[in-house]
Amino acid sequence: MNVLVVNGPNMNLLGEREPAVYGRVTLPQLERRVRAHARKRRQRVRFFQSNHEGAIIDELHKQRTWADAVVINPAAFTHYSYAIRDALAAIAVPCVEVHLSDVNAREEFRRISVVRDVCVGVRAGRGVDSYLDALDLLAERVK
Ligand code: DQA
Repeated sequence: MNVLVVNGPNMNLLGEREPAVYGRVTLPQLERRVRAHARKRRQRVRFFQSNHEGAIIDELHKQRTWADAVVINPAAFTHYSYAIRDALAAIAVPCVEVHLSDVNAREEFRRISVVRDVCVGVRAGRGVDSYLDALDLLAERVK
C-alpha cells in the first residue's frame, strides 16, 4: 500500500514549536519513525509538508494516482479549510486525520474539524504515535 503523509502549516517547526504541547520531536525525526513503522507493515510512504493551503491541495491532486491512502495532519487548516476538505473528497482516496495533541482537550475552536467526515477515522493526542495508529488503521481498513 502506498501512503501519502501530509503535514500542514507550522509542522516544519516541530521540535522548537510549543514543545510543552507538541513535544521535542522534529519533523524529520517524526518522518523517520513513520517510515520505519510503515516498512513493518509493507506500506510505502511519501511525505509532504507545506504552510500553504493551495500547495497541499496541489500535492493531493498530484499524488492521487500513486496513493492508496492518505494520512493528513492539516494542522490549523483542520478547523476551517473547506478547500482541503473538498480536495480529500475529490481524490476519493481513504484518508485518516491525525493530530499530535488532543484537540478535544484544548481551545474550543480546535474541537471543530471540517475534514473529519471525509476521513475514515481520526487519531489524535498520542504525539508521533497518532501517525503510527493511523497507519495501523489503514492496514486494517484498506486492503
Ligand atoms: C495540530 C492541532 C491543531 O489544532 C494545530 O493548529 C496544529 C497542530 C496537532 O497536531 O496537534 O498546528 O494539528
